[in-house]
Amino acid sequence: MRSIRLKKLKKTISGGSIIPEVSLQIPAGKFFALLGPSGCGKTTLLRLIAGLETADSGQIFLGDQEITDWPIHKRPINIVFQNYALFPHLDVFDNVAYSLKLNKLGKEEIERRVVKILEAFHLQDHIYKLTSQLSGGQQQRVALARAIVNEPDVLLLDEPLAALDFKLRERMLLELIELQDKLKTTFIYVTHDQFEALTVADQMAIMNHEGKIEQIGTPKEIYEFPVSSFVAKFVGTTNILSGQLRDLETDPEIEIPSLGRFKVSIPYKKPWMQEGCEMMISLRPEKIFISKKLVKKFSNTLKGTVQSIVYHGRSTQYNILLQNQKRIQVFEQNEEHFPQEVIDYDNEVNLYWQKENVVILEK
Ligand SMILES: Nc1ncnc2c1ncn2[C@@H]1O[C@H](COP(=O)(O)OP(=O)(O)OP(=O)(O)O)[C@@H](O)[C@H]1O
Ligand SMILES: [Mg+2]
Repeated sequence: MRSIRLKKLKKTISGGSIIPEVSLQIPAGKFFALLGPSGCGKTTLLRLIAGLETADSGQIFLGDQEITDWPIHKRPINIVFQNYALFPHLDVFDNVAYSLKLNKLGKEEIERRVVKILEAFHLQDHIYKLTSQLSGGQQQRVALARAIVNEPDVLLLDEPLAALDFKLRERMLLELIELQDKLKTTFIYVTHDQFEALTVADQMAIMNHEGKIEQIGTPKEIYEFPVSSFVAKFVGTTNILSGQLRDLETDPEIEIPSLGRFKVSIPYKKPWMQEGCEMMISLRPEKIFISKKLVKKFSNTLKGTVQSIVYHGRSTQYNILLQNQKRIQVFEQNEEHFPQEVIDYDNEVNLYWQKENVVILEK
């Protein structure tokens, strides 16, 4: 297991900037997820690390060793693509044994390693099938087994589960987490699915549309403390409200036009925070309590009208129209069979939240 460090890595393709000087440290032996919208440059970044593309400038380090100019086959780095790219004319055994044969390992050693990894992936009953005779999930397992059998220092995974259905994806995710935990190989997992990234990652990075890294942190840090409205909106669902900062030095509040003033908590004052400056807050739908009754224990209250209700099984989503004609989403866990009050369309409701559950964002 070794770390990967990108230093001011830049890549342009036919004139347009694709990766604008990315610097990134990916810790050794960790499950690292790279999350970003379609077209932001995630695949390009993986291809640079694997050596399938050359950077215009910048450096790539594997541990302490610079590998920027190393050819692909010299890099102890493997990559798994979304569309598996298996050899259709070879059976499962030969697909997995391929890289070991290239490395000229002995026949018995190859057999031992291949059988061991196929067992780990529950493929022992399919060893002599052609890969075209396997289901999507089985093919994906073969692709993973093939990428891992020669024990790379780093495994790059480019949306490896995108072709699988939801249930299978969930199961494979858990298997990947277990595998990584056992092998301690450095995993870099690319996805545009925030659920996947939050589930698998020890650490994650969020890339924006321009290929710039907006934030790096644990899933919890990213979800609970997004540093920008892009991150807040991209990871999970949130409500963004704009206003001005008031009473900064005493009891800080945000003044939102035609809604009023709401308490915010500022544990660390940032340089941009000035009395009266424009700001935004991110308020997660599940941090809001909804009721027709008056409840005193919350720092903030806001009135609205129920516009629509969507039942999700585990939770219910309320879309609330505010007095400034903007909408807010509220999620409520469906914990009880018989809720204490029934909230219906067109009902006037109160929304409550604690100031500690608001994240302050620079405008
Ligand atoms: N060979 C190429 N020639 C020209 N443009 C390219 C080439 N490869 C990628 N691009 C462009 O570079 C940008 C980044 O592409 P990339 O495939 O890295 O995005 P991505 O983040 O992996 O997207 P997705 O989530 O859809 O897979 C895109 O705008 C794409 O159109
Ligand atoms: Mg891609």
